[in-house]
Formats: sequence, C-alpha cells, structure tokens
Amino acid sequence: MSLIGRPVSPSADEASAPRPSGAVRTMLVLGTRPEAIKLAPVVRAMAASALFQPVVVTTGQHREMLQQMLGLLGVGVKTDLAVMRDRQRLSELTARLVDGLGTVIRAERPDLVVVQGDTTTALCGALAAFYERTPVAHVEAGLRTGVLDNPFPEELNRRMIGRVARWHFAPTDRSAAQLRGEGVPPEQVVTTGNTVIDNLLWVLREGAGRSAFRTARRKVLLTLHRRENQGERMRAMGAALRRLAERGDVELVLPLHRSPAVREALLPELAGHPGVRVVDPLDYLDFAATLAECDLVLTDSGGLQEEAPSLGKPALVLRTTTERPEAVEAGAAKLVGTDPEAILAAAGRLLDDPEEYARMAGAGNPFGDGRAAERIVARLTEDFGREGAVNTARRDAPGSYHPVA
Ligand code: UD1
Ligand code: UDP
Repeated sequence: MSLIGRPVSPSADEASAPRPSGAVRTMLVLGTRPEAIKLAPVVRAMAASALFQPVVVTTGQHREMLQQMLGLLGVGVKTDLAVMRDRQRLSELTARLVDGLGTVIRAERPDLVVVQGDTTTALCGALAAFYERTPVAHVEAGLRTGVLDNPFPEELNRRMIGRVARWHFAPTDRSAAQLRGEGVPPEQVVTTGNTVIDNLLWVLREGAGRSAFRTARRKVLLTLHRRENQGERMRAMGAALRRLAERGDVELVLPLHRSPAVREALLPELAGHPGVRVVDPLDYLDFAATLAECDLVLTDSGGLQEEAPSLGKPALVLRTTTERPEAVEAGAAKLVGTDPEAILAAAGRLLDDPEEYARMAGAGNPFGDGRAAERIVARLTEDFGREGAVNTARRDAPGSYHPVA
C-alpha cells in the first residue's frame, strides 16, 4: 500500500504530548516548497527512530505551495507562523521570522533545531536557535557560488547558516571540502548525498502522478523564479522562450510559481501561446511524472538541477552562477546564463543534435543514492545516543563553533 499522504510526524495536538524519557526533541523548521520536499525524508527517518521526537514548525513563508506538499509527504505540523505577505520584502520577512521562531523555540525547548538549504526561513531558524542557545544541524550545507549576491539572497544565507551550525550535512564531497576549507572542523562535516534524491525516489516508488504534457511534440519543462532575475531580465527570458515555442515542434510546460513578480514577468510573454502550457504549481507526484516524461529541462531552480540528472534529463540552467557545479562537471547540466540568444541557441542545439543530447542524458547523477536522510539520522544518533548527550550538547554549544577562516 502506498505511503503517500500517510502522516509520519505528529500534528499539533500529538506533538504537544510530553517528551518520552530520553527522547531528543528535534525541531525541524521549514517555510517554502523545497524545504518541505527536502526535509520530509529526515522527518520520516527521525519518526522511525526510537531516539528522536520530531516536531515540525512551518514559518509559512510560502502558503499554498507549502501546504500542497506537506499533506502529500505526510509531514504533520505543530506550529504554523503564517508569515507570508503579498510581495514580502526580505527585511520585514526576516524580522517576522526571527521574532516568531525565537518565541516558538522558547516555548518548545527543543534539544536540536534542523534547518535546510538557504532560504530566509532557514537563516532565521538558525539565527533564532543560536540566540536561544540551541544547537543547529544544517541539511544541504556547503553549497557556494562564490558570489555573495548571486543567487540573492541565498548565497549570503547559506554562508551565515554555516557560521552557526554545529552539524554540517553536505550533499557531495565538493560541498564538504568547501566547508573544511572555510575552517569548519572535519568532525562536524558529514557527506550524505542530497535528501531531494531520497524524496524523488520515494515518490516514484510510492505514488503515480499525472504528467502535464499533452501533445506528442518534444517536451520541454520550464521553471523560473529567482529574485535576481525578476523584472526586465525575466521578461526577456520569457520572450526568448516564446521564440523557442515558435519552432512548432515543441511543447513547453511552465508550472508557474505563485510569486506576483514572476507572474508579471512571464505571463505577458508566454500565456496563450499554442506551444506553451502555463499551469499552476504542480504537486510533487504530478511534477515527478512531468519530469519523468520531459525531454529537456530549462530552469533556474536549485532542486531541479539535482533531480533532472537523476532521471537522465538534460538541464539547461538559466542563471549566471550555480552552487551545484557537480551536475555541470558531470556533463548532465549546462550553465547557459540569462541572455535570450544564448538560451535559444543552447536549447536549439540540444533539441537538434542527438549526440549532444545522448551525452547529457547519460551523464548520471552526482547528488546521492537516496540514503541521505538515513546518514543524517545515523550521525545525530551517534552524537545524541550517548547518555547525557542532550545536556552536554546544550552546555557545550558556545565552545563548539569553528574559527572564522
Ligand atoms: C523563496 C526562497 C528561495 C527559494 C524559493 C522556492 C527566500 C528569500 N527565497 O523564494 O530561496 O528558491 O522560495 O520556491 O527565502 N507566494 C504566494 N504563495 C505561495 C508562495 C509564494 O502567493 O505559496 C508569493 C507571495 O506573494 C510572496 C512571493 O510569492 O510574497 C515570494 O515568495 P518568497 O518566499 O518571498 O520568495 P520566493 O521567490 O518564493
Ligand atoms: N516542484 C514541484 N512542483 C512544481 C515545481 C517544482 O513539486 O510545480 C518541486 C521540484 O521538484 C523541486 C522543488 O519543487 O524539488 C524546487 O522548488 P523551487 O524551484 O521552488 O525552489 P529551489 O529549489 O530553487 O529553491
């Protein structure tokens, strides 16, 4: 029987139950779609362990796009801070998040806070935990573009989380080496693979979704949302993609992010074109089915750069930098940039050159084997499983931070 939608973490009432003796109360903080997708395997692995009592707090940085995922992935929520506002600015979002999360951490008194990735929710979760003297584990640690404001503000977010975290769960050897190079003690860094692969494999095993493609044409899956591209640049990218659709032999599917800034930039260029299907954000089952059916991915998404190579789908990354060079180095992805002509040329080449296509499609996935969450929980079990470790973790927190490189 499928496990899709079966609750794994306690909902509000159940999570208020007294802590079982010796249990490590672990607060997992998430606020956006990718954090739900990438933390769900960790929640599942913790719920299956006798040692951990997982408590999920959502900030509600995203609303519909987050809710859509939580039920499907079985993630029950103890507290929802519901911070999302229309066109939220980073400064006000950050202020609401640090304040709200600080209050929740004081009320819940977790032994450990887990954050994922590089969103403003993740940064504020780490910061609020630090202020409350609670140790932090960072899932998907060590990714870097080397350019502080690209992607904006994610590169800064992940660097700051790296200063605060006690456990750094790096998806690849490269990200682990990056952290050690920044002065993080090697014993605090664990290479795990990326939990997005755990989730993708789980969903493909457990459930069947419906692809959004409707024609027999070449299938191109498109997602765009990054803040640094919003405005005129994203509009110009949309115009280039319309020209791609005008070839006549492709069907472009665009599951459109709910951000009004993204909609304003892309809808005037792409809505209503016969070669383009603009759809609402897809739930993960349908998205996985759509990805599995497509021929080519055009994206500025982080997660999609990791998922596409797992299913043998060439990915053109519509950005000027990537924190996931592993896929480019493996030959599974190309960093195409945001220039309209460059995008058109790269997409055309892949669609028209079967050898180039086969090379990229066969390059393989450098982001793990689907057992990342297992490794994360194994390492935390080692560190918290010792008698008295919970208190020691709290007391030792100030001394355990790494020197500034
Ligand atoms: C955020 C993250 C980004 C991540 C992306 C995943 C930050 C600063 N950015 O970007 O790292 O890649 O999520 O998608 O943390 N909105 C809705 N409903 C929703 C979600 C969003 O209406 O379910 C609208 C709201 O008007 C909101 C806007 O989208 O103000 C932007 O959302 P926000 O979370 O600020 O930024 P994203 O671009 O989604
Ligand atoms: N995704 C989804 N439905 C969609 C678009 C994306 O489920 O309509 C999933 C996708 O599989 C990936 C994640 O959302 O796991 C990526 O999220 P997003 O692009 O919003 O954020 P990023 O990864 O760039 O932070």
